[in-house]
Amino acid sequence: MSQSNNIFPNQEELVTSSDKENLLSHKGLVIWMTGYSGSGKTTLAYELERRLHDEGILTKVLDGDVLRQGMNKGLGFSMEDRTENIRRTAELAKQLASCGVVVICSLITPTNELRRLAENIIGEQHFILYHISTPLEVCEKRDVKGHYAKARTGEIKEFTGVSNPFEMPTNAIYSIDTSELSIDESVTYLFDDIFQLLAI
Ligand code: ADX
Repeated sequence: MSQSNNIFPNQEELVTSSDKENLLSHKGLVIWMTGYSGSGKTTLAYELERRLHDEGILTKVLDGDVLRQGMNKGLGFSMEDRTENIRRTAELAKQLASCGVVVICSLITPTNELRRLAENIIGEQHFILYHISTPLEVCEKRDVKGHYAKARTGEIKEFTGVSNPFEMPTNAIYSIDTSELSIDESVTYLFDDIFQLLAI
């Protein structure tokens, strides 16, 4: 083979994803939680992370609110911006999962097209969609951040469930309603599902 002048050749990886999974002794995976604001996605994401971590699993939570302060800063809530928000987050999740990390994404992801976009980027063998299906009325009653009240008066525009659509997922196999299950029950349900998928 002739020597390339390119000092940054497109080199084959010397350490594969499997090597990295073997290092951690578990597989990489993306758990994607869709649901209304206030449905419990973020609470469940962090509780699940704690449970998995305690079992020796390397995890990372990617939360919509947090990402919108950094990597996704400047993006709003038009469909175009939500698409970019999901696209970037899915790309990051994919990179992390390819290192063997169990990534827990907590983003409203309001349409089936957006959920499919995330799945297509990540790849269906590494993607599990959970619908945190707490009803809108319950989320609005909780109104943890005071956003629903502002959305009703029009102070916050394009608010999911109030002035912007939320489609019921057609590609979520699992659904969890935090108005019916306690946080503990919900996390146990998630953990039992997920833990067995991580074995190498
Ligand atoms: S997504 O639609 O692009 O998936 P994402 O999960 O990142 O949304 O962000 C949702 C969070 O942004 C909500 O939990 C809420 O705190 C905040 N937010 C502010 N304005 C809006 C809005 N118009 N619609 C939905 N969420 C909003």
